Amino acid sequence: MKHSVTSSSFAPNGVRITPLLLAALGISVAIAGCSADSSTTAQTAAAAPTSPFLAEVAEQIGLPASTWTAFGTHTAMGYTTAAAENTSIEGMKADCDNINLNRKLAADFRSDVFGPGVKGFFYKCQSVLPDTNMYWFTISSADEAQIDTLCNPTTNYPIIYDEQHDTYWIDEPFTCTSRANPAYS
Ligand SMILES: *[C@@H]1O[C@H](CO)[C@@H](O)[C@H](O)[C@H]1NC(C)=O
Repeated sequence: MKHSVTSSSFAPNGVRITPLLLAALGISVAIAGCSADSSTTAQTAAAAPTSPFLAEVAEQIGLPASTWTAFGTHTAMGYTTAAAENTSIEGMKADCDNINLNRKLAADFRSDVFGPGVKGFFYKCQSVLPDTNMYWFTISSADEAQIDTLCNPTTNYPIIYDEQHDTYWIDEPFTCTSRANPAYS
């Protein structure tokens, strides 16, 4: 059972620190019948719905207040030309390295396929074959149909040019391992 421990007396990012400060002052930290133990702290940190940092990220990428979300992996192959004959070794490595170092946020992911409004976050990449990268994603949209399309293994992704890496990508279908119903960002 999940309890919110983010009351007005707790800074959103102070869930771990504040109880320690309060404890030092001899003040009980039991909130809503739920002590701020480590498991509660972990749940709250994972959701982080009121993080000012995430609120700013949400604002900057235009994330609606309530969205459908999918989590999973997908694979992609990068090529040097639109004819997709030769693997873009450098481009595939650069994209993977960049995601592993910096993560990647897409404000309008594959609008050519989904239409506008799909928010993509790519946070891990691994080269799984000489010509194939695997990516770990979470993707969100206010439009449930877009997430259905994303999670449909028959959805087709036309080859797309990536100027940053001078690479033509073929996205393979996305594998959604879990989904979440609308929740406020
Ligand atoms: C693909 O690589 C081969 C071998 O290096 C080369 O001969 C060919 O021109 C390349 N094709 C394209 C479209 O770049």
